[in-house]
Amino acid sequence: MSDLERSTPGQSPVFPSLVQIRTRRLLLRTVTMDDVEDVARSWRLDGQPLSRSEAEHQVRRMLANHRRNAEEDFVHLCLAIIHKETREFIGWCGLDHRDRTKPNPVLFYLVKAGYRGRGLATEAAQALLDRAFAELGHDRIDGHAELENLASKRVMEKIGMSLIEQDDDYHFTIPRVDPGSLDVARDRRGLGAGEKPGSVL
Ligand SMILES: CC(C)(COP(=O)(O)OP(=O)(O)OC[C@H]1O[C@@H](n2cnc3c(N)ncnc32)[C@H](O)[C@@H]1OP(=O)(O)O)[C@@H](O)C(=O)NCCC(=O)NCCS
Repeated sequence: MSDLERSTPGQSPVFPSLVQIRTRRLLLRTVTMDDVEDVARSWRLDGQPLSRSEAEHQVRRMLANHRRNAEEDFVHLCLAIIHKETREFIGWCGLDHRDRTKPNPVLFYLVKAGYRGRGLATEAAQALLDRAFAELGHDRIDGHAELENLASKRVMEKIGMSLIEQDDDYHFTIPRVDPGSLDVARDRRGLGAGEKPGSVL
């Protein structure tokens, strides 16, 4: 059975209201209003918390963007990253294509400071890419990182994306590839067998 769990009868089968993707160490799932406290704690890159009302606003906005997927093809997907072992909300990841002047959806991710450096962003991002190509039908996914954000740049390298341009940011892209050749690209970039994002369960 697919990992994109179809929970709402009548809704687009490609964009169900509840999306869940399982990897070896992570559960990626649709953010809900129950996540407001976690969103408040981890929303800002500078680590400063949002107020509860700001966090509620952000979650509502995410859910509204998610609902637009069924009407206008793919628009936005933001998934909470839950660590399976600790059950903690440790960040989020997603794909954004609200800006239709951009040719392709853009990958994004954030992992809480205490969980960084363990390959978890790579595991989440790779599972999302796999799903975007396999089920959402995208032919290409892009990604951007600020020049000083070497960790984010490295994540994109490890999942097999190619650097296409460097100005104030790094610009990466990856075309749809068959799973075999993607594994080869990832191995070349140093993603060891033990770190392979595991197949989505
Ligand atoms: C970017 C981010 C998601 C990475 O999360 P993570 O779980 O630590 O990522 P991973 O462990 O999968 O991979 C990080 C890689 O970057 C490398 N890295 C980390 N800091 C680095 C630095 N300062 N210079 C060079 N490489 C660095 C790590 O060594 C690792 O590479 P390796 O496996 O080859 O050793 C995390 O740092 C984060 O949440 N940052 C804030 C949000 C953000 O910037 N998001 C990206 C914009 S969308």
